[in-house]
Amino acid sequence: MPENRIKAVIPAAGLGTRFLPATKAMPKEMLPVVDKPAIQYVVEEATDAGIRDVLIIIGRNKNNLSNHFDSVPELEEKLRAKGDADKLARVQKSSDLADIHFVRQGEPKGLGHAVLRARAHVGDSPFAVMLGDDLIDERDPLLTKMIDEHESRQATVIALMEVDPDHIHMYGVATVEPTGDDDVVKVTGLVEKPSKEDAPSNLAIIGRYVLSPDVFEILERTEPGKGGEIQLTDALEELAAADDARGGVYGVVFRGRRYDTGDRVDYIKAIVQLASDRDDLGAELRPWLKDFAADL
Ligand code: G1P
Repeated sequence: MPENRIKAVIPAAGLGTRFLPATKAMPKEMLPVVDKPAIQYVVEEATDAGIRDVLIIIGRNKNNLSNHFDSVPELEEKLRAKGDADKLARVQKSSDLADIHFVRQGEPKGLGHAVLRARAHVGDSPFAVMLGDDLIDERDPLLTKMIDEHESRQATVIALMEVDPDHIHMYGVATVEPTGDDDVVKVTGLVEKPSKEDAPSNLAIIGRYVLSPDVFEILERTEPGKGGEIQLTDALEELAAADDARGGVYGVVFRGRRYDTGDRVDYIKAIVQLASDRDDLGAELRPWLKDFAADL
């Protein structure tokens, strides 16, 4: 993958209340998914797409996150002395992945507010926003496709996925028009977390965005919306509705494997799915799962 100059922004300043008490002293992005914290999957996805510069927006409990991406010489020395090359490589991987920067959000006033905190670091260039609750399988390279679409259309690109109408109220939802390419739609409107009745489609935003820097100026004046929070969806609605020099908004319709780690049951499902697919764990886990399920 060629390196590209797009930076990635990963908001990780939420309170993670659904996972209390695990998230009392630890950001939810640090919860392990099999044997890696969720946020490491997201950083690896960014680097797989050629991104080298990652900004993490942090809230409280910053140290856990920054320590994870630092090297730990004592631990590395012990593993080296034991000759445990495999574990040594795993420990070193998280500190060698990318140039990782941190900025504090202060008060958690919503996703739009978190993204606005990236302005000084990102400057006047397009950038990716990646939410840690959505993990995208590395075999289905969504972000690479989004960056390509962004480059060819010179527009903001968001990831959309068809979801069950009973779950649509948990997402930003798009009004779309076809483009002639089955995997790409023109987004003409967006609404944050509508009721099933009011949803304009079953195409939900999943947490990947390649944004034009014009979004910063819009976010500066975006009023709190759903839940009293400054919503990224509301700012993107302005870009989508105005078909102007800012390029508009396109959606890449994702049909690959996505794991939701934002909800406790989905988080458990993600761990089971990912572990049973792994070469080192699956062979032992799969037959056990079958027996376990047969007894339920
Ligand atoms: C956020 C966005 C929403 C999007 C979702 C994807 O909501 O506001 O538009 O559909 O992420 O995971 P959250 O899940 O943080 O409430």
